[in-house]
Amino acid sequence: MIKIDATHVKPFIADGEMTAMQARISEAKDTLLNKTGAGNDFLGWVDLPSTFDNKIVERLKNDVKRLSDKIQAFVVIGIGGSYLGARAVIESLQSELSPLLPGKKSPVIIYAGHTLSEDYYADLLKLLDNMDYAVAVISKSGTTTEPAIAFRIIKNHLESKYGVTEARERIIAITDEAKGALHDISVSEKYPMYVIPNNIGGRYSVLTPVGLLPIAMAGYDIDQLLAGAREMRDICINNKFEDNPALTYAALRNILYNKGKKVEMLVNFEPRLKYISEWWKQLYGESEGKEGLGILPHSLSFTTDLHSMGQYVQEGERLLFETLIHVDNAQSHVGIPSDKENLDGINYLVTKSLNDINHCAEEGTVIAHERGGVPVIRICIPSLTERTIGQLLYFFEFACGVSGYTLKINPFDQPGVEAYKKNMFILLGKPGYEGMVL
Ligand code: PA5
Repeated sequence: MIKIDATHVKPFIADGEMTAMQARISEAKDTLLNKTGAGNDFLGWVDLPSTFDNKIVERLKNDVKRLSDKIQAFVVIGIGGSYLGARAVIESLQSELSPLLPGKKSPVIIYAGHTLSEDYYADLLKLLDNMDYAVAVISKSGTTTEPAIAFRIIKNHLESKYGVTEARERIIAITDEAKGALHDISVSEKYPMYVIPNNIGGRYSVLTPVGLLPIAMAGYDIDQLLAGAREMRDICINNKFEDNPALTYAALRNILYNKGKKVEMLVNFEPRLKYISEWWKQLYGESEGKEGLGILPHSLSFTTDLHSMGQYVQEGERLLFETLIHVDNAQSHVGIPSDKENLDGINYLVTKSLNDINHCAEEGTVIAHERGGVPVIRICIPSLTERTIGQLLYFFEFACGVSGYTLKINPFDQPGVEAYKKNMFILLGKPGYEGMVL
């Protein structure tokens, strides 16, 4: 289970600060659970792990069974909250080399709709010419331009490759229950459809079919993922402050923010967590970055980035704090061979596992950063499995809702995302935008 280690943040916190913040956090938690705050029509995620309809889980599994034997690739079209959650979970459960390993595997997951790069789509189409594939098209609003373009291109490819009738059987839509262009296309084409509940915003939707379908198609156990989230929900809702990792994390980061630590770096020593960081950046950046407020979420993967950003973290402007995801156990073992000559001087490491060495790098880094003026909140998890990732997702979601209400903003809207879209539509000459100025 997730534990918070505050050892390397305590030296930055004065007596009484935690108690004062605890009162604000507890008020924010009540606002969240009593549904009395701004954005309270987007709180469907709070109870989701416990109320998730088992019939939908079974339907998802049947769709995976129906498609997975006849495809090599599953193209997941979506952006933002309709993309990052699935990728975060899938990539945290395998190394980046796993898809290259031999042996019978689940379909490889390929992402689309998250970019407008022409070269990306040119390569994707070449790849799909030579692979059997199916598609999930995911958009809550059903009107987002990037996935709409990607879907138009890929649907055209799929229909040319398999014919219109078979293409229909290879497309699954995940969208609003009743409105939006994607909903209307799906009804008209009779695609199998899953609904994104109205009361769950994009960045909180990973535990709906938005995340669950790609995760299950990638071969991972969605029952375990939901079970982990349920366990963490129980803790977040019922445990007192001292035993409640989400409340403790929310309190620590808000205390640090009030002391001028305006940038939070989510760091790891396990590169599989890179997309957990990307998902987390959207969750916290979109939830808190408004009204001129909010901690800037940033991320680094160590030890890789210690050799690029380590200098800044150690000695640059002191506006940083780190939140480190510590993973206790590796799932495999690779020993370091002994060498008679020992010209590289690393024979002293042969009795240690790589995981031991990684942990020493972590401990050394944490102590150095603390002494350099960078507080480190450590989130400890035993290993990277569906269950612990489910716990981690819910932990971050709950802490984000509480943190947002502590800042007294609406953590569940994202009005700022519209500004670029309006300008883009004016430049593209979208009907309805004629005569508007940039
Ligand atoms: O969190 C959000 O609401 C956004 O990031 C959306 O998920 C993103 O813009 C995609 O929107 P949609 O799912 O409507 O295509």
